[in-house]
Amino acid sequence: MEPKYLIRTFGCQMNEHDSERIGGLLMADGMTPTDVADDARVIVLNTCAIRENADNKLYGNLGHLKPLKERRPDLRIVVAGCLAQKDQGAIQRRAPWVDVVIGTHALPHLLDLLRRADLEGPQMDVREYTETFPSALPSARRDPFRAWVSIAVGCDNACTFCIVPLVRGVQRSRSIGEVLAEVQGLAARGVVEVTLLGQNVNTFGRDLTLPGSSRRPLFARLLREVDGVEGIRRVRFTSPHPHDFTPDVIEAMAGCGSVCEHIHFPLQSGSDAVLRAMQRSYRRERYLDWLERIRRAIPGIAISTDIIVGFPGETEADFRDTLDTVERAGFDSAFTFQYSPRPGTRAAAMSGQVPKQVVQERFDRLVALQEAISLAHNREQVDRTFEVLVEGDGKRHGSIQARTRTNRIVHLGEPVEPGTFVQARITDAAAHHLSGRVVPETIALGV
Ligand code: 5AD
Ligand code: SF4
Repeated sequence: MEPKYLIRTFGCQMNEHDSERIGGLLMADGMTPTDVADDARVIVLNTCAIRENADNKLYGNLGHLKPLKERRPDLRIVVAGCLAQKDQGAIQRRAPWVDVVIGTHALPHLLDLLRRADLEGPQMDVREYTETFPSALPSARRDPFRAWVSIAVGCDNACTFCIVPLVRGVQRSRSIGEVLAEVQGLAARGVVEVTLLGQNVNTFGRDLTLPGSSRRPLFARLLREVDGVEGIRRVRFTSPHPHDFTPDVIEAMAGCGSVCEHIHFPLQSGSDAVLRAMQRSYRRERYLDWLERIRRAIPGIAISTDIIVGFPGETEADFRDTLDTVERAGFDSAFTFQYSPRPGTRAAAMSGQVPKQVVQERFDRLVALQEAISLAHNREQVDRTFEVLVEGDGKRHGSIQARTRTNRIVHLGEPVEPGTFVQARITDAAAHHLSGRVVPETIALGV
């Protein structure tokens, strides 16, 4: 029987995408995936460092794996991802039963490291620079019909709360030709939806233009090129940064039939003073102005966002500015976070850290406001009919999950093959999903 591997992924889509690469490498080495830790010869924890509880989760998980490793010394435990890059040698000092610590730039060397761990004992590779784009590696993709495509890694911004630039390095873009070749290959294998991934997609390509020239970003051009790939019916991307957003991206979104009517546009705070302290160079009126321009150019577009509550120095008045901005922005959905000091970031050393119970109370108010807004938006969808892409079993028992172009989740009552496009009539709405029925004659047509 082939040896098996198990991967647990924490954090964002970049990490999910890296996990597909880790799985792809292990499969290329003759292994097969499993969900059962007891059956696995290799267990990979692909970690995230963006918020504190991620660290606690990692060490909790490693604690659970210790008895398993004692019983089966041939088990190989790998810690990958952003925490591996951040904590480096500290991981094996704290959990000496970890066989391999592999940073975000070292993925192509995973199999080598595992082999060396067999021969020599614990290994670590936390090199600082990417030589090969992860997308150039084999991949075990989550679905045959949709795929993530990495267009750039790293981030050149320095938001004071964020650990990403410290663990993922400066931005490096892939060439448009390379991205296109990957998307064309995916389309040829039946993929109908791609999500372009980068920490800050607007600055895609800035590092590809010649030094000394205008250093212009190439994202709008990339969208147009990807839109032209036959067979790709939906293009998504995440995330743009309001600071670097440019009108040509709106034009490209509006003009490209396959680019979905959804944008994730991280606000972080609605207070100008907090935005300044975060080193986010836009201000709230400018942000709201962008939303208006985007909505004007792309009617019906859904807008989601990220918001941090309790950044150091945030006063009640600052927080009210955030509530006010959220109300005016009318987001369709928001990811809300409690500020978590990350070692090595500027904000972690700032005075005015907000007490936990104040953060919690503000957080609850923000969530309640956003849930009401999300619900109101979703109720407006009832009795309308949308093209949805069927994704597979829903979280709710017996339902099938599908998604609108605006990124709304629709639970369907009837079984439909994943990867199929159908028209769904919306029958009911909740804050985080819709319920709907398939318009029967659309199943066979795939429209
Ligand atoms: N504390 C809380 N939230 C954070 N994020 C990033 N760093 C932190 C932090 N230190 C949030 C931001 C970002 C999202 C991916 O995670 O909102 O957009
Ligand atoms: Fe972090 Fe800011 Fe870069 Fe996003 S843009 S990854 S929040 S530093």
